[in-house]
Amino acid sequence: MQEPKASREKFSSGLAVFFATLGSAVGLGNIWKFPYLTGNNGGGAFLLVYFLCILLVGLPVMVSEFYIGRKTRKNAIGAFEQLKPKTAWKHIGSMGVFASGLIMFFYSCVAGWVYFYLFKALMGTFSNITLETAKSHFGSVVVNPVTPILWQMIVMTVVSFILIMGVQKGIEKITKTLMPLLFLLIIICDIRALTLPGASEGLNFLFHVDFGAVTGTVILTALGLAFFKLSLGMGTMVTYSSYFTEGDNLFSTAAKVAFADLAVSMLAGMAVFPAVFAFGMEPSAGPGLLFMTIPLVFSKMLFGNVLLVAFFFLSSIAATTAMLSLVEVPVAYLSEERGLSRKASVFVSSVVIVLFGTLASLSADSSSLLGGITFFGKGFFDLFDFISSNIILPLGGLLIALFVGYAANKDDIKQELMNRGHLNNGWMIDLFFFIIRYITPALLILVFLNSLGILS
Ligand code: PFF
Repeated sequence: MQEPKASREKFSSGLAVFFATLGSAVGLGNIWKFPYLTGNNGGGAFLLVYFLCILLVGLPVMVSEFYIGRKTRKNAIGAFEQLKPKTAWKHIGSMGVFASGLIMFFYSCVAGWVYFYLFKALMGTFSNITLETAKSHFGSVVVNPVTPILWQMIVMTVVSFILIMGVQKGIEKITKTLMPLLFLLIIICDIRALTLPGASEGLNFLFHVDFGAVTGTVILTALGLAFFKLSLGMGTMVTYSSYFTEGDNLFSTAAKVAFADLAVSMLAGMAVFPAVFAFGMEPSAGPGLLFMTIPLVFSKMLFGNVLLVAFFFLSSIAATTAMLSLVEVPVAYLSEERGLSRKASVFVSSVVIVLFGTLASLSADSSSLLGGITFFGKGFFDLFDFISSNIILPLGGLLIALFVGYAANKDDIKQELMNRGHLNNGWMIDLFFFIIRYITPALLILVFLNSLGILS
């Protein structure tokens, strides 16, 4: 049974739309992926490449997803089915539901570590920490078969509670409260880090302009990053935009979200690298940066422990608001297409995530309990990440671009994109169609081939 349109929830205002969508884009990616990739791949030159990727791929795909979601006001699978009934296009949505699960399996595991570190920071565990103790702290968390799983369950309980409250009272209320707080916390960390002696070396790492470092692979890395960062290619934005208000101009919403997300990434880099360099540490990527280097360098500063709490709190916010959007994909599908109540849909999705998430947790390191089990040389944790980020997202993005560029009704798209919020979009719509038909698919085919290792 499908619910009548009138009973479907919506966000209450344009501001709510902005914060919820930004909450999806801002996540762990801003903190441990983006700054490091920027610093190591040409700094300012990488930023310029990333900016072009947003313009030519990120924004067009985001606007496409927004059109599909708001036009149909359906979940990721139902939306395609409504626009092109009884065709295989709906499987873009099926892939999305599957990918949201895969991402959640490892993302909730890392979010569990973040929550745990927030707890440890609150308890003052990191005062007087040394390089050895920082390493052994994290080492014991990653290989521990019980504690991380308990924290993963806590994470999923928090996410489930918020989602059960619904779109307005849950997602909207939380993102509207926490996203401004995240900005505030990150700015506090920035001020502290930038006033350290030697901070300029960190800024130099992030912003030096080295066009020589921009190789083909770097361009493709930027393109892949734009995709993961902006939560594209798997129906997340289709699902969220199905709750958008009628008055939103889809172009300007997409642009505001993409640029605010970029601003968060830069602010995160400006909080982390000056501190890392000021204490003579090496910049690293991923878990090492977040869970070893940061506790170590922050604990050495004046007010370090307060700052660590602020930092892990903002990371928890980022991870949580991103997960709300990830889990909303199966929740909307189950409640609209499978006749489950919202509560039951949240429950089923969370149980599946905890079960498979356990596999990720137990394989996060090669010395973890299940770390020895590998497929194509990858453990469960890395496999979930690889299949979702490197295969499904770019493929989904490509198919969405083809769907909107060639299969969907052009007048229908024009009508949805036209003149809302007092903007006259005539020329933008023409440009949009040109990019989504020719440029975006071509670039995505390149990313896709590259991520499968075919180009390198
Ligand atoms: N954009 C999030 C981040 O950068 O951490 C991750 C993410 C969220 C990817 C939602 C995909 C998604 F649907």
